Amino acid sequence: MARIVYLNDGFVSEVEARISIFDRGFLFADSAYEVTAVLDGKLVCWAEHFSRLQRSLDALGIMLPLTEKELLNLHRELIKKNKLVQGIVYLQVSRGCADRNFIFSDSMKPTIVLFSQREELLDKKRLERELRVVTVPDKRWGRRDIKTTQLLYSSMVKTEAKNIGKDDAWLIQDGLVTEGTSNNIFIIDKEKKIITRDLSNLILAGVTRSTIITFMEQLGLELDERPFTLFEAQSASEAFITSATNFVTSVVEIDGKLVADGKPGPLTKLIRESYISYCFEYAV
Ligand code: PDD
Repeated sequence: MARIVYLNDGFVSEVEARISIFDRGFLFADSAYEVTAVLDGKLVCWAEHFSRLQRSLDALGIMLPLTEKELLNLHRELIKKNKLVQGIVYLQVSRGCADRNFIFSDSMKPTIVLFSQREELLDKKRLERELRVVTVPDKRWGRRDIKTTQLLYSSMVKTEAKNIGKDDAWLIQDGLVTEGTSNNIFIIDKEKKIITRDLSNLILAGVTRSTIITFMEQLGLELDERPFTLFEAQSASEAFITSATNFVTSVVEIDGKLVADGKPGPLTKLIRESYISYCFEYAV
């Protein structure tokens, strides 16, 4: 069945939604996006997704013509119109349309798109997946803190990983792990210390990342936000990735080397369960 999507000024069927070939999102990947999980028809970590969107748009100099409340209501209306119980809402804001020109004016009318996707986010097999990853050089641009739709490198290396029977690629820069193609990375050392890359322009400030960090202390876990090497990751006692769509998922193999005994670890499971409870409690 055709979905109802939102485009600029209203809701339309996905088969009728049309965007201009002059849209700078299409021509220059000149756009920011958010992917928000939906559980029981409610949005997970809405406020955090909105503030990151605002940060991305501020960095790009794109003016969002909607308030937080208006955008939240559009998300809710979209969920309702599509009877979405579990899945995601994808939001993209591009700078808008103009003749192709590297120089953009600051008075453009942004293009706003929202669509939903049904996904079994809580499917047990999906939640308990054991990821096998390979590493590749991080050749993305230097402003990974802005969530732009410039995702080609990540898409290429993830596809290459899939083609050799692996699940994802981890990106390495100057001998240090930055992040996964579409997720943040955590490792747990032998002393049960949780290590994740500190925030900078080199990685995206994941909403799932920052949310699980807020309850580390409550779980009696110590956190160290710092760069780490591939060797540290391969020698860890547990490793996992975080993202809006994969929550907290175990990584059991990195470049052919098993992480500990190659089985998902107990702390990863504990953090995942705490995160999912949090999602249900605070979804709006
Ligand atoms: N990706 N790092 C990158 C490069 C990402 O693209 C993402 C999310 C994350 C995790 O962020 P969050 O926890 O806020 O989802 C980290 C989304 C899910 C995507 O592109 O589909």
